[in-house]
Amino acid sequence: MNDYTGAHPHTLAGGGDYITHHGDRPVGFEMVAASQILDSRGYPTVQVTLTLTDGDTVEASAPAGASTGEHEAVEVRDGGHAFSGRGVRRAVANVDEEIAPLLTAHGWTSLRDLDAAVRQLDGTDSLSRLGANAVIAVSMAATRAFAHAANVPLHRYLAHLSGAEERLPVPHFNVINGGAHAPGGLPFQEFMIAPVGAANEEHALQMGAEIYHALAGLVRSRFGMAGLGDEGGFAPPIDDPEQALDLLMEAITAAGYTPGLDQVAIAMDPAANGFAVDGGYRISSRIMNSEQLADYYTGLVNSYPIRSIEDGFAENDHPGWALLFERLADKIQLVGDDLYVTDPARIRDGAEHHYSNAALIKPNQIGTVTDTLAAISAAREADMACMVSHRSGETLDTFIADLAVGTGVGQIKSGAPARGERLAKYNRLAQIEATNAHLSFGLR
Ligand code: PGA
Ligand code: ZN
Repeated sequence: MNDYTGAHPHTLAGGGDYITHHGDRPVGFEMVAASQILDSRGYPTVQVTLTLTDGDTVEASAPAGASTGEHEAVEVRDGGHAFSGRGVRRAVANVDEEIAPLLTAHGWTSLRDLDAAVRQLDGTDSLSRLGANAVIAVSMAATRAFAHAANVPLHRYLAHLSGAEERLPVPHFNVINGGAHAPGGLPFQEFMIAPVGAANEEHALQMGAEIYHALAGLVRSRFGMAGLGDEGGFAPPIDDPEQALDLLMEAITAAGYTPGLDQVAIAMDPAANGFAVDGGYRISSRIMNSEQLADYYTGLVNSYPIRSIEDGFAENDHPGWALLFERLADKIQLVGDDLYVTDPARIRDGAEHHYSNAALIKPNQIGTVTDTLAAISAAREADMACMVSHRSGETLDTFIADLAVGTGVGQIKSGAPARGERLAKYNRLAQIEATNAHLSFGLR
């Protein structure tokens, strides 16, 4: 086996019972090898191939962000001239020279033990010695190895680990890009459409693609040309978030759908770290203080069918977060991304202080799959929603599609319905649906 799906060629129906009753099958590694590959932006990233003792191989590769939170696990990059310092040869060497001897030394009975051993080998909280980019690729590949040994597809193995009921998530398509992901003056990073009223995953993908195409027509006729952002959304020459929201409304309607919280809803990731300035937040030509920004969001929520706002305030502006929670938490989803960096302790803290009612889940922010699942558990225990997420730098690895299904969170964002690295995840979801007719689709 040498594909990205992590699915064994022949899957057992109800295979989850098998692993529940008998515990994890021990996994042994014959060989652990890493290499430097290029991600969707042309920057280096780490790919890991594990050869199991049965001769089969599993692979995974690390995603990478552009608008990173201050407290994310730390990648190891080479510095120097090549790739403007972004090479990952050192991270690759860390896998080959340090992690490989550890993993091949003996068999492993659980992913938890394996992740803990790698963390201990690293010796830092931030994984900055071996590199979070090295460690997450190892952890994702190891998860596939355990799924393979249990003879179940990756999403089912993740459901076993998380104790959740599998569920097909509503895709949140990022179709207009700004902020750190695009050239131009649009301060908000992501404008997403969420076909919450779709009948199933396949239908949701169709709706997303049709609206994306309608938006392409609108953008071309109005602006002549528009660039594309890192996540495949259009980057038209606009600087007012309301212009972007109006474009979404028009595109949804032009494609024959109804904008609305029960049909095609809108979600935004302003990624406010990116437009925070001394004394407030810069939007178009205005500088707003936290109070004014909360008023601004409230106005948008009253005018558009917005179901979710992520990183509405900068990660250190806790009063701003608390203010927005007070205003909007009973109406819409408020998601912490840079605020929590997929860290269980930060999520628990956010729940306690009422900063948000949802957490974004990005495995490479925390560094291992075990810790990612712990973050989802922490959110679940605090009654917070979760959205599984890609990064702006991606590969063809589809791990997050299985993660979203296996943890049953009900929502995922993987960029526009365009560009291979974005579609790989959405197509994997459709494939899981096609081979698992019993699974429900939709928000939780
Ligand atoms: P990033 O952006 O991958 O560049 O951090 C994604 C996000 O902010 O959600
Ligand atoms: Zn974000």
